[in-house]
Amino acid sequence: MCGIIGYIGEKEAIPILINGLKKLEYRGYDSAGLTIQNNSQLSTIKKQGKIKELEKNLKDSKSKIGIAHTRWATHGKPNEINAHPHINQNNSISIVHNGIIENHNALKELLEKEGVKFSSNTDSEILAHLISKFYKDDLEEATIKALELVEGTYGLAVINKDKEEIIVARKGSPLIIGLGEHENFVASDVPAILEHTKRVIYLDDNEIAKIKKDSYKVKHINGNYVDKEIHEIKWSLDKIEKKGFKHFMLKEIYEQPLSIKNALRGRLTDNIKLNLNFDINEIQRIILLACGTSWHSALIGKHLIEKLTNIPVEVDYASEFRYRNPVISEKDLTIVISQSGETADTLAALKKAKSKKSKTLGLINVVGSTIAREVDSGIYLHAGPEIGVASTKAFTSQVLSLALLSLQLAKGKNLPIRQDLMDEIKILPNKISEFLKEDTKIREIAKEFKDSKNFLYLGRGINFPVALEGALKLKEISYIHAEGYPAAEMKHGPIALIDENMPVVFIATKSDLSPKILSNMQEVKSRNGKIIAIKNDNDYEIKKLADYTIKVPDTLEELSPIMNVLPLQLLAYHIADLKGIDVDKPRNLAKSVTVE
Ligand code: G6P
Repeated sequence: MCGIIGYIGEKEAIPILINGLKKLEYRGYDSAGLTIQNNSQLSTIKKQGKIKELEKNLKDSKSKIGIAHTRWATHGKPNEINAHPHINQNNSISIVHNGIIENHNALKELLEKEGVKFSSNTDSEILAHLISKFYKDDLEEATIKALELVEGTYGLAVINKDKEEIIVARKGSPLIIGLGEHENFVASDVPAILEHTKRVIYLDDNEIAKIKKDSYKVKHINGNYVDKEIHEIKWSLDKIEKKGFKHFMLKEIYEQPLSIKNALRGRLTDNIKLNLNFDINEIQRIILLACGTSWHSALIGKHLIEKLTNIPVEVDYASEFRYRNPVISEKDLTIVISQSGETADTLAALKKAKSKKSKTLGLINVVGSTIAREVDSGIYLHAGPEIGVASTKAFTSQVLSLALLSLQLAKGKNLPIRQDLMDEIKILPNKISEFLKEDTKIREIAKEFKDSKNFLYLGRGINFPVALEGALKLKEISYIHAEGYPAAEMKHGPIALIDENMPVVFIATKSDLSPKILSNMQEVKSRNGKIIAIKNDNDYEIKKLADYTIKVPDTLEELSPIMNVLPLQLLAYHIADLKGIDVDKPRNLAKSVTVE
């Protein structure tokens, strides 16, 4: 979703801004732009499409201060006019904004009555004009006055033609300050500034900061200064390079042996050790909340937690939960799952659960993200930065972390220890590496199906969410319509779709329900559907029925979703790649959805 980078210092701003924008490309965007300040003048350049377009149109102007933005359209078309930065009428103030100004219609009317002419169809432009309305000689004060009128969310950066400073403010949309030597940075996300500094400050909601090249000051919007902690980023830029892989997504699929190891590190030795700051014996129910792929891992989490702990678990889409009147109390534990830690719906759902006194726990990948800072206790996934829009390694780390959490909760309840599960978890990274050798075979299968118009994915029990995830991966990056179903539900509708043009992916690894999956396969076979079966070794009956089989290593059923999703990630990847799609940046999707 939209990205922000800003620079103030002694170096040329433009290359820093452009490189920063490139590091944010993965979040998804449709246009880009920047404003630089030079000799008491602001110059703004914006372009629809890729950052390359913006670069081609840059003039050779010198500047030490600037702000830049990649936009992901919410209000108004993705075109040059609607791209950020937005400027006021006399071109003295420029802003970049992430988030949504909900009362923009009312504010626009008010400003138009005062004679302001708007040039774009965005909600964000309001901010440039409002700040301008209040500006006398203090940019920070004018920004505060403007924000007092605004309803909605913002991660905002503002510059003025005469001031050697950047003003930034945050409410509901992430913003960080990066600290350098005689230079400072602002950004919506760490990768944008990581090549320059590892020292960052995370702004909290309702905070505003004045940033100069040698200083910064953070205030609460009510005027009180705030002492902010400086965080040291522990990972480096090489983690966000492709390292010889054609796409980030493929690299991230291949990183899974390592990301799983990292999720385990220090947490599973002879025993399980997660630091949770609540007493499990006080918890009567667990509620799992998430969006997208993370919601699929939540569905798997329900199976794991209920099986290992006997605690009842509910799963909800964060976007639904936030607008319900959920019955919750302090006896509930709400677990939010989010790769980015910034998803707006998940954050709002978390706040709702907290307002009802539920205990909260986060399973988050991005360290220091908003959700990570809002929860009572957390388990970081440690999967490393995930750049491909379609989530892969974060998903398997989420499932693994849910297995660890289930073990920890069971231990807290003095239930029998599942030594078999702990032993199997430890050898999982090797099994994943072993499986990844099947990749060439999966590409061959992808060639057969790349022109299909529809796909059906079927699984049962703990692998039904894997069917959903397989279908989501394919939709997201190949634009082929795909649906995931519990295999037994096929007869209640999807069976009508099956003919020789319908590929059906069965997750058919060993389980108590295997005989039932076989009969579903027969139903597809007798209607000439094409079967791709994910299976374990030596399953001859499946081999007889399936047109294509992909063998995954045996594992315990509790961990089978981690193994079974791998071929589905690769199948989606290869189909999309063979179709020539920009796999890491599929159309209309954003990596981190920070608006509703
Ligand atoms: C977006 C991404 C998905 C992701 C979902 C939830 O839609 O494209 O890949 O699963 O958001 O994101 P989160 O960061 O909360 O896990």
